[in-house]
Parts: sequence; C-alpha cells; structure tokens
Amino acid sequence: MNLEGRDIISIRDFTRSELDYMLAVADQMEPLARKGSNMLSGKIMATLFFEPSTRTKLSFESAMYRLGGSSVGFADPGSSSVQKGENLSDTVRVVENYADVLVVRHPLEGASRLAGEVAEVPVINAGSGAEEHPTQAILDIYTMRREFGSIDGLKVALVGDLRYGRTVHSLAYALSLYRNIKLFLVSPELLRMRSEVLEDISRGVDFEEESDLRKILGEVDVIYMTRIQKERFADPAEYEAVKGSYRLTQDELKGAKREAIVMHPLPRVDEIDPSVDATQHAKYFKQVWYGLLVRMAILGLVIGSIR
Ligand code: NCD
Repeated sequence: MNLEGRDIISIRDFTRSELDYMLAVADQMEPLARKGSNMLSGKIMATLFFEPSTRTKLSFESAMYRLGGSSVGFADPGSSSVQKGENLSDTVRVVENYADVLVVRHPLEGASRLAGEVAEVPVINAGSGAEEHPTQAILDIYTMRREFGSIDGLKVALVGDLRYGRTVHSLAYALSLYRNIKLFLVSPELLRMRSEVLEDISRGVDFEEESDLRKILGEVDVIYMTRIQKERFADPAEYEAVKGSYRLTQDELKGAKREAIVMHPLPRVDEIDPSVDATQHAKYFKQVWYGLLVRMAILGLVIGSIR
C-alpha cells in the first residue's frame, strides 16, 4: 500500500485497510523508536501550531528525530508573520518550501483542509478546531489493538465533552470502520455528540447516548475520558454548568470489568482522579508511547520512505 503524498485531514478520508496498514507499520516502529534510525535523514517536518499543544507537537517532533529527520516550526503564532496579518494559505505556500511535510493545528474548522489544498507536500491535521484530530484517533485505535489484540467487537464508552472534543469525533469515525463495535456516548445533555458525526457513524456502528457513566461502566472494555473543552465555549455560564461532570475514581472503577482500560488523550483536568493512575486499568501514559510509534509510521508513510 502506498500512502506517499497523502494528506491526513479527516479519518473519513481513509478506509479500514489503510488504517490497519498504519497500525501494522506502527508495530515495526517500536525497535526504531528504542534504537533510533536514519530512515528520514535529510527530511524536514514543519509544525504550524496556531493553538497550544504539548504532547502533539513534541510527539511529532520526537517521531521525526527518532527517524533521523529534523523539524522547524512555530508553536506561538504571535512570534510568526501571522501576527503581521499573513493569511494561512500564504504561510503554507512559504513554509512548504522549507519542509517535506507540514503538521498544522488551527482553531478554525476547515483550516487543515485548506492547508492541504494549497500545499504540494503532505499536510497532517494535528487538530482543526472542535472538528477532528485524526492522528490522535489512529493512536487511540492502535492502543486498543495493542491492549486487546483486536479492535473488532470492543465496547467503548466515550465520556465527557462529545460536542467540542475533536478527538472523540475522529475516534468515533475510526471505530465505525470496525466490526461489532458498541459505542456508549456518555455526556451531559449540553455536550452530546454532534449530529453530523452521529449521522455518519450510524451506518457502521451501534451506539447509545447516556448521561450516567455508572450505568454502563460494568459493560465496557474501554473507558475513554475527555476534558471539557473550556476554551471552545461561547458562553462561560454554559461551561460552569457542565464543568466537573465526570470524575472517575479508583473506587468507582471497582464496578468495571477486570480487563477494562481507561484512556485519555490528555491533558486531564479533574475527570480522572490520580488514584486511578496506579490501577491496572490506567493506560493513558502508555497511550503516549503508542502515539509516538503511530506518528513515526505516519511520517514515514506520507513522506514516502515506508511503502
Ligand atoms: C487533545 C486536543 O488537543 O484536542 N489533546 C491532544 O492532542 N492529545 C485533547 C484536549 O485538548 O483535551
């Protein structure tokens, strides 16, 4: 399978076999992540981050360096020409001269899609407003595959901010490509999953909306917690009404299956109590390592060094 030159903007642009191929390549990245590699030597990645990030940016940079490549970019648009009023397509047209792949995070939905249309080099969406975060979803399904051996047949609870959380949008699309998935969409009424996502996934997946996590906790294999996306609320009173809606504790997890795993894209605020960290359920830090492998695979594939 050849993914050279492909943009990674939305999970909806990919088939199950393409995603499975990325996961298989991620497996091959594990020894290279430990030992280092020259696979991308001479290649440059540019990161254009118009929104804050710690792990996504560092994860892409580390992935590039571990494959022998290098990275340029900005994390604070205030320090770039964007501050002078440069528009996104001009920024992309300039920066693509410096790099073999662009990684873009932007507060506006559609921004990465635009960047992908403008750029000749592949563009990877590292978060487009509240819309999507496809590489997070790929590392999320990779985590499930590594922990359970297979994704088909899993019962997954997506918990928290399903309205503004871009990771859960991409993850729902990704899971809808697998067989016999049961999704529990657990959120306050105000933060229900967007209807466009529901419409899309209803063709491939059985889902149920719920507000009370405790009601379904004993049934699920994966508890995917998310942060309430404070920065996306237009009305601070709405945020006040839903903040702290879920707080998963070690005690509460006694009602979960023994082999159930807890995931989180991070950063967490208060939705997973630190008492959970020491339990066998906690996989959110392991997820970070899996994410590095997935991003190494994605960079190698779209740059064309892995086929
Ligand atoms: C997420 C994001 O930026 O959407 N973080 C991440 O990339 N792992 C989740 C969040 O900010 O809550």
